[in-house]
Amino acid sequence: MNEIQLTEVSKKLKSIIRSVPNFPKDGIVFRDITTLLKDKEAFKLAVDTFYQKYKDIKIDKVVSVESRGFIFGSILAYLLGAGFVPIRKPGKLPAEKIRQEYQLEYGTDAMEVHADAIKPGEKVLVHDDLLATGGTVSAACKLIERLGGEVVGICFLIELSFLNGRERLKNYDIFSIIQYN
Ligand code: PRP
Ligand code: HPA
Repeated sequence: MNEIQLTEVSKKLKSIIRSVPNFPKDGIVFRDITTLLKDKEAFKLAVDTFYQKYKDIKIDKVVSVESRGFIFGSILAYLLGAGFVPIRKPGKLPAEKIRQEYQLEYGTDAMEVHADAIKPGEKVLVHDDLLATGGTVSAACKLIERLGGEVVGICFLIELSFLNGRERLKNYDIFSIIQYN
């Protein structure tokens, strides 16, 4: 897909995302992807756009982050012929796991992945639905690298560009379909 086609796709999908003012708190405009997910053409267009971007790259695992990251992450793994690895909020995974803490606006949070989820040298595509500050995906990349995986790309449906999440992920190849400035 060339730049012009991608701009068209981006415009179309953006027009289908619902913006909800003052959710979850005053002053935040929440970008709600459920309106895109329920639209069969828009949903397919988003999946196809990710697929086109990565179809010629060797990818062993697609890793995504609970919970909205799972929606496109598992479909992408299937289409790319890769395995799917969930990164989960603490206390959800049953077997041996590793944990990564990360900073929130106030305080810290953590996420976990199974210790046997990725083998050293495996090529990993990371997906999440939305890039805000980059804290979540940056912690996901640390988990992958601690297991010896190589992050070959990171993709988002939405990038909140004004939060500069890209800065935090500057060592990686980032792709987002829709941006909000
Ligand atoms: C949202 C979103 C990303 C993350 C982005 O998830 O789906 O995972 O926040 O924020 P960041 O770039 O500032 O780290 P949320 O924590 O709302 O969880 P959910 O997917 O379970 O709704
Ligand atoms: N929409 C969805 N998830 C989010 C947002 C948003 O605007 N900001 C942070 N996480």
